[in-house]
Amino acid sequence: MPLRLGVLVSGRGSNLRALIEAASAPAYPAQIVLVCANKEAPALEHARAAGIPWAVFHRADYPDRTARDLAMAVHLQQHRTELVVCAGYDEVLRPAFTRAFSGRIINVHPSLLPDFAGTMDAPARALAAGVGETGCTVHLVTEEVDRGPVLGYRVVPVVSGDTPDRLHARIQAEEHRLLPEVVRGIAERRIPLPR
Ligand code: GAR
Repeated sequence: MPLRLGVLVSGRGSNLRALIEAASAPAYPAQIVLVCANKEAPALEHARAAGIPWAVFHRADYPDRTARDLAMAVHLQQHRTELVVCAGYDEVLRPAFTRAFSGRIINVHPSLLPDFAGTMDAPARALAAGVGETGCTVHLVTEEVDRGPVLGYRVVPVVSGDTPDRLHARIQAEEHRLLPEVVRGIAERRIPLPR
């Protein structure tokens, strides 16, 4: 049985699209069963186009962020989600959520963690820091932001004339390969998750 993925998005959704494409191959060992967003994100168009169930959890509809994250966790559980993939999700998940899916949440981040952790502008920070190379990391989500065990990474050189957008675009090209590969590794149990 393919591994059942719930994907969390907030932005453009290019990583979601890469996962949808990967999962469309008959031999791919995972399927996306639900896409959740915290706002009306462009990423949702990819879910709609692919006929994947989706839901938006607006913060304003709940008394606080914990209640919102719990509602999202329950919805993911109702879809029998086995692995949660944060693909450009721009909020830190509350402990109520990370406990509900403990050891079963991964995130893609556009830097070589632990460098430039904790924000959504890691490529700009890498440029500002003057590093010669950066990259992307897929890691396990724990309660400590961007500090969970690394499951895979790719190095991307910084080149002269780079702007944050150009650098981010090259990092994203790597993310689009890395994320489906790590999900495959988890589904095939080559990449072990905690028990
Ligand atoms: C990706 O580059 C992802 O690594 C980054 O947001 C982008 C989302 O792009 N995530 C973070 O910065 C998390 N702190 P997408 O919506 O096109 O997939």
